[in-house]
Formats: sequence, C-alpha cells, structure tokens
Amino acid sequence: MSDQLIRGRVLTFVKEPAGVDDAGSYRFFEDGAVFVSKGKIAGVGPYGDVAKHVGPSVKIADHRPHLVMPGFIDTHLHFPQTQAIASYGAQLLEWLNTYIFVEEQKFKAPEHAAFIADRFMDELLSNGTTTAAAYCSVHPESVDAFFTAAEERNMLMIGGKVMMDRNAPDALRDTPEKGYDETKALIAKWHGRGRAHYAISPRFAITSTPEQMEVSRVLAAEHPDCYVQTHLSENRDEIAFATSLYPEAKDYTDIYARYELLGRKTLLGHCIHLSDREISVLAKTGAVGVFCPTSNLFLGSGLFDRDRFDRLGARHAVATDVGGGTSFSMLETMDEAYKVLHLQGQRLSPLNSFYMLTLGNARALDLEHRIGSLHAGADADIVVLDSRAKPAMELRMQVASTLAEELFVLQTMGDDRSVAEVYVAGKPMKSGRRETKAEAVR
Ligand code: GUN
Ligand code: FE
Repeated sequence: MSDQLIRGRVLTFVKEPAGVDDAGSYRFFEDGAVFVSKGKIAGVGPYGDVAKHVGPSVKIADHRPHLVMPGFIDTHLHFPQTQAIASYGAQLLEWLNTYIFVEEQKFKAPEHAAFIADRFMDELLSNGTTTAAAYCSVHPESVDAFFTAAEERNMLMIGGKVMMDRNAPDALRDTPEKGYDETKALIAKWHGRGRAHYAISPRFAITSTPEQMEVSRVLAAEHPDCYVQTHLSENRDEIAFATSLYPEAKDYTDIYARYELLGRKTLLGHCIHLSDREISVLAKTGAVGVFCPTSNLFLGSGLFDRDRFDRLGARHAVATDVGGGTSFSMLETMDEAYKVLHLQGQRLSPLNSFYMLTLGNARALDLEHRIGSLHAGADADIVVLDSRAKPAMELRMQVASTLAEELFVLQTMGDDRSVAEVYVAGKPMKSGRRETKAEAVR
C-alpha cells in the first residue's frame, strides 16, 4: 500500500481529560498531518514538520478544515440485530422473545448472514467506527460471515458465537458440548487471523445452564488471550430471573465470578443496577462495565452510574448495543450518554466524550498500543469529521469558539453525515464505497 499524508485538524488523546478544558489530555494540531506508511501511522504533528520528513512524491489527502481523529470504537453490539433496530414497545425479556430470538434464527442461512455482515461493516464505517466488539448468533455460519466481512475490509474486529442452551427457542439453542466444540473450532479458525479477535460469548446467565457456564469457564481458561463478553444487570426482571436460576450466588455479578469469567478481557454489557459490592468486584478483577446509553433508554432499562464506577475504581467503556441501541453512530451514542449522565447530576465534558470513543474504549480493550490514538506505530484507523455537515450545524458553528465547543456540536448534532472519510489501515473506505449496494441486492 502506498504511503500518504492525511492533512487536517488533527486531534488525539494521550490521557483521560480531567475537566472541561484539560489541555494536557490531548494533542491538537490546527494544521496537522498524519503520515501513513504500510497501513501504520509513521508520524503525527504539525503539517510542516511531518511533511519535511517525507518524499515529494507522497500522496496528500487534504481534509482541511475537518477534524482528523482515531477511528471510533464500539465495545458492544449485536450484528444479527441490524434489522431489529426500532422494535416497538417492549422491555428486555419480552423484546428478546418477541423480536430478537425471531430475527436471530435467520442467521442459520449463510447467504443471509453474509448479506447482513456486509451491510453491518459498511454501516459501522459510514459512522466512523473502525473497531467493534460484536455478538454473532448461535450459528457458526454467522461468525464466519462476520469475520469474512471484516477481513475483506481489513477491520480490527472482535466477535464470537453466542452460546445459549436454555430459555430460548429450540432453533437458537446449542448444548454445553456443542457450544464448547463450535467455539473451539471458531477460535482456531479466526482468532489472530489478520486483525480478528475472538470473544467467548455466553449470552447471559439466563440463557446458559450451569453446565454451559462451566464450559465458558473452561474456554476462557484455555484461551486467556480471547475476550469474554456477556450481559450483566440490565433490567430488574432480568436480575430477578438470573439470580433465581443461580440461588447459590450472592448476586448477579457473583454468578459470573463463580465461573471465573471476570477478568481484564471481560466486557459486561449494561451494568446498570449493580450494588457497590458488585462494582467493587469488577474493580478488583479488571472486568469492564459497558455503558449503552441509547439501548438503556430505548428498552427502558435504567441509567448507567458512571460516577460510581469511577469512585469505586472500576473500568468502563461505551457502546451502541445495536439492536437494543437505536443508532450505529457513536456521535449519537455520546449525545445520549451526556443526557443519561446529566439526568443523574453527572457532567460528561466533550473532551471526555471523544476520549471515551477513542483512547478510552481502546484502553478498555487493552488495545491502546494499536488503536484509539494517533501515534507512530499504531494502526492507521482514522476518522475525518465535518462539524458543519448540516445547515443547523453550520449555523451553530458560526458562534462556536473553542475546540471543546466544536466537539460538543459534533456530538449533539452530528451523525453519519459528519463522517467525511474513514480510513482502515490507511485505506480510505468512504469515498471508495459502492454507493447503492444495499438497494441493489434487495
Ligand atoms: N441481554 C441478553 N441478550 C441481550 C441482547 O441481545 N440485547 C440486550 N440489550 N440485552 C441482552
Ligand atoms: Fe447487548
């Protein structure tokens, strides 16, 4: 792949911003450039400085006056729920039974799985998301489709086959043995191939028997370099049901703790109604609570208490949770995150928001050396953002004076229209995209 200079207003975080204006938390170059060589970042800084060190023949993509940032990271969503967004009127358990467990059955068919996987990856990219941690369906075919589509785009993706052996329709149930064998085979096939990472994915305590939880424990112990993803404490009825199925556990978190599923590579969707004891267990084990604001509002689940996570020293990340979540856009997700925290008297600064979308989520995945910030040696996954993408944004930007204000406009008013370009391992993916593919194959 040829070398290139990506020129624009370059922004990247180096640590978590402490306040609204923490200038030490980021690097910003008003006329900046990222030098990309062989899919990796080879230099970042003021345009003049970076350009000095590269040959005159190097191609320049000039994105001024747009912002150039690390690609966004989505730490929890469901690829088979792409067509289930906006399913009306139900809270979690009814929503799963009425809509989701019907939709996911379609993914037994490899053609359907491949069709949706393609659109799913393109939708992520349209929204500036370059890495995501996704659940596939129970069918190994869906995992093949997912990683194939990611590989075709060279995207760093995390995913895995959902395991469930009870409280789901027959067509969506595996068994402890089948869950183990299929997961083993998929890890062998995909984990570490190109940019693929596998996530061992018992859906949640309700849909796995103790025998399948034990199998999950064994899989996680046998594959310490794989992620583990599941759901925790999203909805009151869910908590009551889960804890009734595991009466020996102290609480919901303790179910996963007893099967040794909590560790630095564990991503726990939602974590809304946790006690201090439970959050302290997450803090001790390094497991990550994943805040899914649009989903938590849409399903009427509750409000994620970020301050309590910070106070108790537990790690957290942010995600769309499509299809409980209502948008693929991490900008729209942070718009809702701001409101969810605001309702609880908590402030989410614009700098902190964009930190979360990039370096914060990369750190939650322990991938900050590769993605989430623009530094020499990192993968060249980059998003280019237009703060004036809509007339109302243009008007609002006429009276914006600081970088923080611009970021807040992007988050509050922006969506996929604000994503001017997205690079995956140095390759521009938006300009090169086949425009009408979704219509063509209908
Ligand atoms: N809990 C178990 N499965 C799911 C799911 O697919 N979506 C959400 N939001 N919560 C879950
Ligand atoms: Fe989820």
